[in-house]
Amino acid sequence: MSVAFLLNGTPVRVDGCAPTRTLLDWLREERGLTGTKEGCNEGDCGACTVMVTDAEGSRALNACILFLPQLDGKAVRTVEGISGPAGQMHPVQDAMVAHHGSQCGFCTPGFVVSMAVAHLNGASDHDDQLAGNLCRCTGYAPIIRAAEVAANAPVPDWMSADALSLPRISPVGSGEAGGLPGGFSPRDSDELADWYLANPDATLIAGATDVGLWVTKQVRDLTPVAFLAGVKDLQGIERRGGQLHVGAGVTIAALRSAVAGLLPSFAELLRRYASEQVRNAATIGGNIANGSPIGDGPPALIALGATLHLRRGDEMRSLPLEDFFLDYRKQDRRPGEFVAGVSFPDHAPGLRCYKISKRFDQDISAVCGCFNVTVDAGRVTAARIAFGGMAGIPKRAAMAEAALVGQPWTLATAKAAAKAMAADFTPLSDMRASAGYRLTTAQNLMIRYFHDLQGVPVSVLEVRS
Ligand SMILES: Cc1cc2nc3c(=O)[nH]c(=O)nc-3n(C[C@H](O)[C@H](O)[C@H](O)COP(=O)(O)OP(=O)(O)OC[C@H]3O[C@@H](n4cnc5c(N)ncnc54)[C@H](O)[C@@H]3O)c2cc1C
Ligand code: FES
Ligand code: FES
Repeated sequence: MSVAFLLNGTPVRVDGCAPTRTLLDWLREERGLTGTKEGCNEGDCGACTVMVTDAEGSRALNACILFLPQLDGKAVRTVEGISGPAGQMHPVQDAMVAHHGSQCGFCTPGFVVSMAVAHLNGASDHDDQLAGNLCRCTGYAPIIRAAEVAANAPVPDWMSADALSLPRISPVGSGEAGGLPGGFSPRDSDELADWYLANPDATLIAGATDVGLWVTKQVRDLTPVAFLAGVKDLQGIERRGGQLHVGAGVTIAALRSAVAGLLPSFAELLRRYASEQVRNAATIGGNIANGSPIGDGPPALIALGATLHLRRGDEMRSLPLEDFFLDYRKQDRRPGEFVAGVSFPDHAPGLRCYKISKRFDQDISAVCGCFNVTVDAGRVTAARIAFGGMAGIPKRAAMAEAALVGQPWTLATAKAAAKAMAADFTPLSDMRASAGYRLTTAQNLMIRYFHDLQGVPVSVLEVRS
């Protein structure tokens, strides 16, 4: 494939690249830009963080799970481009030196890029912005102090230049770009639908936060592949008729912003979804389509009563999201059919989402419980409860729901529902949690939910005397 983008302000065109060549490998092996480090090569450590700018703005991404064709028509800035053209230090670099934010230095380029992007975007939630950057030796306090101090400095001219320079770069665009078979970059969902129908064994690549690891860790040949990054009509969010209609290509970061004022508990769950870099790449369509039993999107969406929209050729169909998940990694998706979008209510005052994981940030759920109960005149009139991590698929707690509906909304009813959950789930033991831990936790979350809806503070992060 061929791809054109700006690299540290200079236009580059790469011809004949393998569709799954990662930006990290290319930077280090072809361009000698070794400031971008390889730590984990799976999106976990942030040592490879780069800044990517397109019409939507600038964001931090992990170069290790970013394929070159995903950059077509965009601007990339590596740590080498964070200082000014005459070697001037960026304010975050100055602050890192002044506040002793680096020891061995391996993580430092990644931190500096994440901090520079946050600085450019005026983001001051430093803990969240840097949760995807791991440091083994300095400790985070000096780094956060540096970010706080740098926040007061003006944005250097060269950091804003990429957005202004985008018109200088012409994307190579769609088709068997560059004449090499194996990769396709459709411009809209019609092109995607036709191509996928003709190539039903192909791999679709959206944010590549799952697919990237199939290449870097499993060394799989995925061709033919189609990149969804240019399919703009799958990237919209529309609010109409009391519903949010979200395209499959909407990133978790964009979804989090969209639901922040409407469904705050869902937004808080998405804050805990991986890291800034992963949220900026991962899409909700990919999160649903991969069918993981421990994905965070599906339990919340099922609790909301979401409808999934699928497309195959010219044919569209819709189904309740929970019906899409048939068995472990087996979904109701026909050859050549793709996820077009998902819609769900824009209002659910009873929705609460609880993610239980070993670490607060950047960790996969051991159990993710999402509850959405409606109470009218003291009685439960509707209940939707969905869990991740409790079965081979994201699954509703049907027996617990049945134990709630029609009953008075009391602690005794919540306890009865928690007891009924034992008939809903037979969880597995794995490295994240034992079966016993998972079931007890799910049952306790039911009780926590009852207290939460009563207005009792239930956050275990708020230590009170
Ligand atoms: C470090 C790290 C941390 C993570 N943490 C979390 C977490 O906290 N919570 C969580 O839920 N997940 C987490 N994940 C998993 C991952 O981010 C999600 O599953 C993500 O939403 C996948 O979306 P994507 O766009 O990157 O999909 P991709 O990797 O591009 O694709 C994933 C799968 O979906 C298919 N696909 C993509 N789009 C479509 C479509 N429109 N139609 C049909 N098929 C499609 C692909 O072919 C592939 O099979 C993490 C991943 C990493 C690397
Ligand atoms: S090398 Fe660790 S996130 Fe990329
Ligand atoms: S300074 Fe050594 S890992 Fe961060």
